Amino acid sequence: MLLDTHGRTATDLRVSLTDRCNLRCTYCMPEEGLAWLAKPELLTDDEIVRLVGVAVGRLGVTDVRFTGGEPLLRRGLVSLVERCAALGPRPRLSLTTNGIGLERVAGPLREAGLDRVNVSLDTLSPETFERMTRRRRHADVLRGLAAARDAGLTPVKVNAVLMPGVNDTEAPELLAWALAEGYELRFIEQMPLDAQHGWQRAEMITAERILTALRRRFTLTPEETRGSAPAERWLVDGGPGRVGVIASVTRPFCRACDRTRLTADGQVRDCLFTREESDLRGPLRDGADDARLAELWRRAMWGKKAGSGLDEPTFQQPQRPMSSIGG
Ligand code: GTP
Ligand code: 5AD
Ligand code: SF4
Repeated sequence: MLLDTHGRTATDLRVSLTDRCNLRCTYCMPEEGLAWLAKPELLTDDEIVRLVGVAVGRLGVTDVRFTGGEPLLRRGLVSLVERCAALGPRPRLSLTTNGIGLERVAGPLREAGLDRVNVSLDTLSPETFERMTRRRRHADVLRGLAAARDAGLTPVKVNAVLMPGVNDTEAPELLAWALAEGYELRFIEQMPLDAQHGWQRAEMITAERILTALRRRFTLTPEETRGSAPAERWLVDGGPGRVGVIASVTRPFCRACDRTRLTADGQVRDCLFTREESDLRGPLRDGADDARLAELWRRAMWGKKAGSGLDEPTFQQPQRPMSSIGG
């Protein structure tokens, strides 16, 4: 098991498959992109399957989510999913994607054993989409979403970040659309994880503001069960439709956190916000056996801090941006 000194157990593994992305969301990275990891630095497919196998076989991980950057940019994703689905005990498998290219691979991913997807979409307007992502790909994302739903990668969740003066008035519209399409919408508070270090607390659209805007149009009833998921959820107009808010900044859920992370270059992170990582790639390539890798992973998680530190005056953003951590 992956335990820490605060009594938590990590059972949910997020694996970043690449730090690259085909969008350039303004709250994430600059127009010119970033200094991407070089190929030899990336874990190979075999190395990923080996480490996921250690996590599920020896460390009690039950859920595995593939992230990026943009994970659909990783060649061989379908076979990677298939190989992870064949591990014992079989983990639940999910994917967080910007949806570009999903139209083509939703069916094959489902057949390979993927259970569900979360897709990022911040706006219903193609123009606003271009302004936020610096790419004209709005229609691709909508088609990707529909394909995921049709392929049975459900529940399909949609992640939206609201930016002041850009899309912050769209919350009710986005919710009405998601309900009509059968997607579960979650709003995410903007976090200080952008590569440009431009985040400012005062500019962030808070959960409170989002909920106030939604309540002008919908009746929201809090859901009892939250578990360890980062989203707080409400039934909309009596259900069955739902909406979620991931308020990592104003209502952190660190006490219930059940996550462990593996970066595309094989580093374990015990928290989204940590500034310390533990290398598994080196030992793996030096011939460490599974028991040794499991032991290193356990050690990496044991020291996990109680909280993100976001509210402390000494808070410093992690060296790695969101796109390289995997969200
Ligand atoms: P579900 O299993 O569907 O609930 O997935 P998820 O919400 O955990 O994953 P997703 O990749 O869709 O992430 C949505 C948002 O939650 C992103 O902005 C993530 O950065 C954020 N998030 C995920 N895990 C954590 C975490 O451990 N801490 C914090 N603060 N945010 C997280
Ligand atoms: N703050 C909050 N959410 C972010 N995302 C990317 N960068 C940030 C940030 N700085 C979102 C993406 C995607 C999810 C994985 O995280 O839009 O939906
Ligand atoms: Fe790509 Fe996601 Fe960053 Fe947007 S937020 S640029 S989709 S990694």
